[in-house]
Amino acid sequence: MEKIAALSAEEIAEIEAEASHYEQKQAASIEALKVVQKHRGWVSDESIKAVAELLEMSPAELDGVATFYNLIFRRPVGRNVIMLCDSVSCWIMGCDNIAAQLKGGLGIDFGQTTEDGEYTLLPVACQGACDRAPVMLVNGELETHLNEEKVRKILGSTE
Ligand code: FES
Repeated sequence: MEKIAALSAEEIAEIEAEASHYEQKQAASIEALKVVQKHRGWVSDESIKAVAELLEMSPAELDGVATFYNLIFRRPVGRNVIMLCDSVSCWIMGCDNIAAQLKGGLGIDFGQTTEDGEYTLLPVACQGACDRAPVMLVNGELETHLNEEKVRKILGSTE
């Protein structure tokens, strides 16, 4: 019963389909976590336990994968998730100013969600787009060459 609450039949079917591509079910860990996140927006402890059982691994091992892969959310997030790169190239190119603009505009700090549940702001490591720094992910889409005006436009278009 617990498994049903933590994962829907649809999620189980999708995870099993992913796992069937591999000899070792654990190899589908990230895909399985993505399935849950697609359906629920984030991955709870209960879902971690249920997915781990399906993939024949321990919850701690799966949680390790989820924590390492920073596009998997282990806490509820807003409808829009903004992830600003704070690695070295983006830092040199002024991501601190962009961070200040985002924090000021949204009224939240990194790791927080706006009260209306619209936005979550998170830092993220290098996205491999250093030549287009500073960059951020907005709902998984990479936005590059950020400046104040561009950020204003992006925030306006997600409202
Ligand atoms: S440092 Fe930001 S994309 Fe590489």
